[in-house]
Amino acid sequence: MRTVTGLEQLVAAELTTAGHHVISISKRQLVVDATASILTDPPRTADDLFLLAAQLDDPGHTKSALQSVTKQLRRSLQIPWPHRQPFAVSASYVGRRTFNRYDVEDLVGAVIADHTGTTYHSRRTTKPPEPRIDWRVILDGTSVHLGIRPFPAPLHRRTWRRHTVPGSLHPPVAAAMAQLAAIKPGQVVLDPFCGAGTILVEAQQLEPGAQYVGTDHAEASLRAAQRNATSIRWQLGDAQRPQIAADRILTNPPWDVRLSIGDLTPYLNSWHDTDTVVAIVNEHQVATLTRHRAWTSAEVHELSLAGLHPRLVVLRR
Ligand SMILES: C[S@@+](CC[C@H](N)C(=O)[O-])C[C@H]1O[C@@H](n2cnc3c(N)ncnc32)[C@H](O)[C@@H]1O
Repeated sequence: MRTVTGLEQLVAAELTTAGHHVISISKRQLVVDATASILTDPPRTADDLFLLAAQLDDPGHTKSALQSVTKQLRRSLQIPWPHRQPFAVSASYVGRRTFNRYDVEDLVGAVIADHTGTTYHSRRTTKPPEPRIDWRVILDGTSVHLGIRPFPAPLHRRTWRRHTVPGSLHPPVAAAMAQLAAIKPGQVVLDPFCGAGTILVEAQQLEPGAQYVGTDHAEASLRAAQRNATSIRWQLGDAQRPQIAADRILTNPPWDVRLSIGDLTPYLNSWHDTDTVVAIVNEHQVATLTRHRAWTSAEVHELSLAGLHPRLVVLRR
C-alpha cells in the first residue's frame, strides 16, 4: 500500500477498522495482510495498492548486486493474479545507487515477461501504451517489494473528479480529514473554502447521512464543485462570515504561498461555535489554529505533498 508522507498512521487506522491486518509501516508504505474485501472496498486514504508478488532483501547500491537480486526474483516470483495484457514496471528506491530507476525496471520487467509470456513496455524512452497492467518495485533500504496493481488506475484517482481549481486537494488527504472529523449522521458539515469540493465529496462518501454545504467566494470554484457533485449544496459565501451553523468545519484555506490569505484568526473567530474543525494549513498558519481559545485539544499531522509541508490540524472542544 502506498501513501502520502505523513498519512501512514491514518491509512493504518482505516485498514484496521476495515478488518485488515497491518504488518509493517514505513515511510509512504504499509505491508498489509488483507481480506478479499480490499479489492471491492479499498481504503480511501491510501494512494495506491499492489498485490505482493515477491519480497527480497535490498541488494544495496551497486548494479552487480541488483543483477543478483533479479536471479533470486526468477526463483521466488509468485504472480498473484495471472494476466495476459502488456505491462509496465515503475521503480523507486531510497539512498544513493550506481543504477537508475530504468535499470531496475528493465531487469525486473524481463523477469516478469519470461514468467508470464507477456509483453514488457519499458518507460526508459517512451510512455507505455494503455491499457496495460502496472507493476511497482520499491527498494526501501531494507527490502525489495514487488507488486501488481489489481485496478486499472491508482487509488488516488477518483472517477467523480472531473474539475479542479488552483490548490485543489489530493483526494486521499481529503479522505483522511473526513476520517479525523468523525462525522455522524444528521450533522451539518461546512467547507467555507470549498474550491472544487474535494473535501466534502470525500466526506460524503464516508458518511452519506450528514448534510454537506460548501461555500466559496469564487463563482468558478462553485461551478467546478457543482460539476463534481450535484448531491452537495454549493453556494456563494465569504469564509469570514459563514451563514450556516455547522457541527463540523472541514477546510483547506489557501495555504500555498502563491495563494495564501495569511492570518487565519478572523476566520477562526467566526467559526468558534463549531465543535470540531479539521483544516489543512501551511507551517506558518498552524500556531494560529492550535493556540485558539475556542478549542481545547489539537492534533497535528505533518505531511509532505507536492514539495510542500502542510499540516493537517484537528481542533476539538
Ligand atoms: C485551496 S482552494 C480550496 C481547494 C479545495 N479544497 C479543492 O480541493 O478544490 C481555496 C479556495 O478558497 C477560496 N477563497 C479564498 N478566500 C476566500 C474567502 N475569503 N471566502 C471564501 N472563499 C475563499 C478560493 O476561491 C479557492 O476556491
